[in-house]
Parts: sequence; C-alpha cells; structure tokens
Amino acid sequence: MKPIRHAILTKDGSSTLRIEELKETYHSRHGAVVESEFVYINEGLRFWMEKNPSKPCRVLELGYGTGLMAYLSLLYAQKHTIEIEYTSLEAFPLKKQELESLNYNRLFQDNNAPTLFDEFNKIEWEKLVAVSPYFKLNKKEIKFEDFTPSFSYDLIFYDAFGFHAQPELWSQECMTKCYELSNHGGVWVSYCAKGSVRRGLEQAGFKTFRLPGPPGKREMLRAIKP
Ligand SMILES: C[S@@+](CC[C@H](N)C(=O)[O-])C[C@H]1O[C@@H](n2cnc3c(N)ncnc32)[C@H](O)[C@@H]1O
Repeated sequence: MKPIRHAILTKDGSSTLRIEELKETYHSRHGAVVESEFVYINEGLRFWMEKNPSKPCRVLELGYGTGLMAYLSLLYAQKHTIEIEYTSLEAFPLKKQELESLNYNRLFQDNNAPTLFDEFNKIEWEKLVAVSPYFKLNKKEIKFEDFTPSFSYDLIFYDAFGFHAQPELWSQECMTKCYELSNHGGVWVSYCAKGSVRRGLEQAGFKTFRLPGPPGKREMLRAIKP
C-alpha cells in the first residue's frame, strides 16, 4: 500500500506533510520551520560552528523528506559564509506534486538565497552538486541501514519518524552506526529525547546532553563523539 501524504499548516505558518497511516508528520505541528531551526540549525550547526570556527562542515541527514532542513542549512551557510557538504539519505523520496503542495517557496522568497526552494528541490539525486560556493548537496535514495560511506561526518541530523512508527531506526545498532559514521568531536542532534535512545547513544560511545526542546517538546538530545 502506498502511503497517502497530504500537506498541513503548522503553527508558525509553514507547511509540512502528514502520513495518516503512520500518524506521523514530517515536522512538528508546533512549527515546521521553528522546530527545524531550533533543533538542527541552532543546537546542531551553530553549536558545531562555534566549536570549529571557519572549518568546513560535513553534514549527514536522515532523511531528506521535504528538503526543508537541507534548505535551511544552505541559508545558514550563505549567511555565515561557511562551507557545508551536505549528504542526505532518503528511503522514500517525495513526489513532485507533494513537494509542490508545500509553501516553502513563498516563505523563503525574500531570503537572498542562491536558489529558490522549488529549484533547490529539483537538484539531481546521487550526485554531489555545488548549489553555491558555500553549499554542496548530495541526495541519496537509500536506507540509512544500507548506507556505507567512504568518509565520516562532523554533524548528524537524525530526523527519522518517531519511535512508535519506526522503532528499528532508534535501535542500539543504529546509534552505533551513527557513532562509527562520526568524526571525533562530531555532533549528533535529534528532536527525540527518549531514554532508550539516549542510553543507546551512550552505549555506542557518545557523550549525551538533554537540552530544552523546541515549542511543544520538553527536551531534545545532542550527543558528541569524544
Ligand atoms: C521526519 S521525516 C524527515 C523530514 C526532513 N528532515 C525534512 O526536513 O523534511 C523522516 C524521513 O525519513 C525517511 N525515512 C524513513 N525510513 C528511512 C530509512 N530507513 N532510511 C532513510 N530515510 C528514511 C522518511 O521517508 C522521511 O522522509
């Protein structure tokens, strides 16, 4: 059965997609842009950049979804003139019509971005593409479980669907894989604050930190590979 995904409006005025069968949304209902900026851009990218000023950053995202987080990272790279190489894994790429049902193109049209959101989302898959002098994107249609990269990462955006929908992606095995994929000093961030996930990260070798969460969530997690 093919999942039915439809666009809904979140509390900050940005849209996201909802899958009824999984009872899951691609972002928080409390604000798709607000959540992505809070968890991944601020507690992930900004945090790593402050510790590694003017160093290029290799980011790995699970999963690409709507492309919102990748696009916000492009805007951040542009604004702060830092180099980002962004690899994003996606097991089930969205269809053109689903992407077109989102309102991000309109929301971000005044951002001096090197490309509009709709153009950004048309970027070819399975290829490292220089979107701007500061941002390279490689979208890969592959499951995280099957991914075998040739190098490791400075930052992991772990944005799987919730534990109730995809428990296998929050397993000890996946946390150990994240550890193996990270550089020393590398940072892992997620909206998820589940105790078993935190313990899995610790068991894998990460040092973990519970942080205040975005609107609608008490806590989130950051982990650092010593
Ligand atoms: C919460 S959404 C991610 C939202 C995305 N970061 C964005 O900004 O739109 C979770 C994504 O993970 C993808 N996914 C599910 N299972 C996966 C797997 N095993 N490996 C890689 N991606 C997976 C889903 O198709 C979905 O696009």
